[in-house]
Amino acid sequence: MVPEIKKHEVEISLKTNSRSLPERNVEYLRDEIRKLAKEKNAVILTHIYQRLEVQDIADHVGDSLALSRYAAKTEADIIVFCGVHFMAETAKLLNPEKTVLLPDLQSGCPMADMISVEDLRAFKNENPGSPVVCYVNSSAAVKAESDICCTSTNAVQVVNSFNEKEIIFAPDKGLGVWVQEQLPHKKLHIYDGFCPTHYQITPKEVFIMREKYPDAIVVAHPECDPEVWRLADFVGSTSQIYKFVLGHEKNQFIILSEQGLVARMQRDMHPKAIVTTFPLPLCPNMKYHKLESVIEALRENKNEIKVDKKIFDKARKTITRMFEVTEGAISEINGMNNKNFWEGPKTIASDSSLVGCGR
Ligand code: 13P
Ligand code: SF4
Repeated sequence: MVPEIKKHEVEISLKTNSRSLPERNVEYLRDEIRKLAKEKNAVILTHIYQRLEVQDIADHVGDSLALSRYAAKTEADIIVFCGVHFMAETAKLLNPEKTVLLPDLQSGCPMADMISVEDLRAFKNENPGSPVVCYVNSSAAVKAESDICCTSTNAVQVVNSFNEKEIIFAPDKGLGVWVQEQLPHKKLHIYDGFCPTHYQITPKEVFIMREKYPDAIVVAHPECDPEVWRLADFVGSTSQIYKFVLGHEKNQFIILSEQGLVARMQRDMHPKAIVTTFPLPLCPNMKYHKLESVIEALRENKNEIKVDKKIFDKARKTITRMFEVTEGAISEINGMNNKNFWEGPKTIASDSSLVGCGR
């Protein structure tokens, strides 16, 4: 039971330092966010790696592909993006008229930061003539230097859409090697970037977990080290992992991916036993957003994400090409035949049966 905190106490604390709250009245904060979102005609999009309490205030929870599609089609005036910086940038590129807010600007992606425009140009010079597929985990500037974008859900399909045999893939080497193994007739030139969170998982930890749960099915995200995802029974993107475990007849799963996804599946799929490795593969960058920072962003239109005009059109084209190749034209994103659409939880914050129900 959360002790009651008076409204003015919360407001004072928000103005000073939210961490000074001895106990947080989550219900009050959640109601305040939903009220503000309604008043300001804002939609809250939350990546599934976020804290559960931040997932629970969202209009939509999803992976990077699903959230970019929600961002593209929303009619809200403001998009509050509880994800990392490149995701908010992608939302802005897809819906330029909207105000896009990132509640905590510290929320960047170290993998995206591993490649600059100069790095990509140098890599292109080393592999001349090959088209560039960039993972969505990249800056708008890097997207503007690329031919097409992909997510982990559609990377194989995107790379395979080229007639060229040789393709540059950047920045994620985990996903790049995965795509290469699915498409042996292609030759990928893979940039040396990686996800520090997924790379925390080593083969040793997987062996330990397998020994502890010998009947469990091992499921991995392709951002893991190839030495790790090679040990898995199933490899898939976030939405594919969620759908796979939900639909599987077995009841024990070892998930080789980020803690937020694992926590969400544990809650949604109880009584299935869903565990991950130790130490927890937790992305600290995803956890910056808190209910307090969402309120501040909404109240003050704080931390607006802008994309440099000089690169805007090129970066946008890189993303819309991905939709054209995988799903048809961007104008049809709302259509019914979306093969890669999100198959994870359908959180609608306004549906009180889903908010904070602690399943
Ligand atoms: P997806 O959301 O596409 O699965 O990507 C995982 C990730 O690393 C998000 O940063
Ligand atoms: Fe970036 Fe990895 Fe965190 Fe995703 S999980 S935001 S790729 S560091």
